[in-house]
Amino acid sequence: MHAIVVSATGGPEVLTYTDCPDPELNPGEVLVDIAASGVNFIDVYHRMGRYPLSLPFIPGSEAAGTVVAVGEDVRGISVGATVAWANVMGSYAERAVVPASHLLVVPDGVTADIAAALLLQGMTAHYLTHSTYEVKPGDDVLVHAAAGGVGLLLTQIAKLRGARVIGTVSTQEKEKLARQAGADEVIRYGGFSEAVRELAGSGVHVVYDGVGAATFEGSITSLRPRGMMALYGQASGPVPPVDPQILASNGSLFLTRPTLAHYIATRDELAWRAGDLFGWVASGQLQVHISHRYPLAEAVRAHEDLEARRTTGKILLIP
Ligand SMILES: NC(=O)c1ccc[n+]([C@@H]2O[C@H](COP(=O)([O-])OP(=O)(O)OC[C@H]3O[C@@H](n4cnc5c(N)ncnc54)[C@H](OP(=O)(O)O)[C@@H]3O)[C@@H](O)[C@H]2O)c1
Repeated sequence: MHAIVVSATGGPEVLTYTDCPDPELNPGEVLVDIAASGVNFIDVYHRMGRYPLSLPFIPGSEAAGTVVAVGEDVRGISVGATVAWANVMGSYAERAVVPASHLLVVPDGVTADIAAALLLQGMTAHYLTHSTYEVKPGDDVLVHAAAGGVGLLLTQIAKLRGARVIGTVSTQEKEKLARQAGADEVIRYGGFSEAVRELAGSGVHVVYDGVGAATFEGSITSLRPRGMMALYGQASGPVPPVDPQILASNGSLFLTRPTLAHYIATRDELAWRAGDLFGWVASGQLQVHISHRYPLAEAVRAHEDLEARRTTGKILLIP
């Protein structure tokens, strides 16, 4: 099979299209022909070595495709089924073996492309709005990078829960998309904290910040007393060490640095989040915006575009 292999960490050019042996199927695992692989910002951190992995590795942690073989001890998944997964490495490839415990059978009414585009960023948006901070009707919510992969889904799901969403974006085109997703107010990053104060007098109930270094301080000062700062990513770079005293002086705030793995740690939680997402997509309540599809061999271009902020919503690699 062909796969993208990273043998040394670095820029997008280290993503090398390579001829590899097919992965080996072990008990409890399923072999899948990949139809589409999702690109996520975490793939950039892995490629750069910011989140270190042992080399060489096949990047990518999300895909959907067709089951071609099932290992011993696997129940409830048959050859020919369309399945999808998130948070299992090795998806920038034509084929992958995935533990059955992490697989989701894609329901009728949801295509493989949509499933590959939905799960990782969608389950992130789900846990942020349902578990990290349970968004309630009437809450003021600040979503950074509101036209990004997580951002568009987070905006829609926060709206489903009855919030007023304020989104930040960098361009006019992204503003349009964020508004289509339901954002009530869309602002630029420059002076965003002051703009938030004008829109939501005492500040917002929660900030969902996946941008990191560039927005952290302004996010803290956008919160109302006892508000929640959910720092879930660092697209602009890592946040420097923080003095906990800033949480007191800005209103007894809460700061959390959540990550998906801890919110899908049990099969029940995984099934709950994925089930809600598939249901919303099938019923038309949640739109998945796929802005770019690249051939697998062009993973370099996909990463260049993602890092240069040229993409919106989801980008896919097609083997
Ligand atoms: N903790 C978790 O469980 C979890 C799970 C999934 C994703 N994440 C995090 O969520 C964030 C978004 O991920 P994603 O895959 O959906 O990516 P994305 O939002 O589609 O892409 C990143 C966006 O961040 C914004 N951005 C602001 N400053 C940037 C900079 N200096 N460089 C690059 N982008 C910048 C850009 O939007 P504008 O041009 O509008 O600013 C850009 O489009 C990432 O930090 C990712 O690591 C965390």
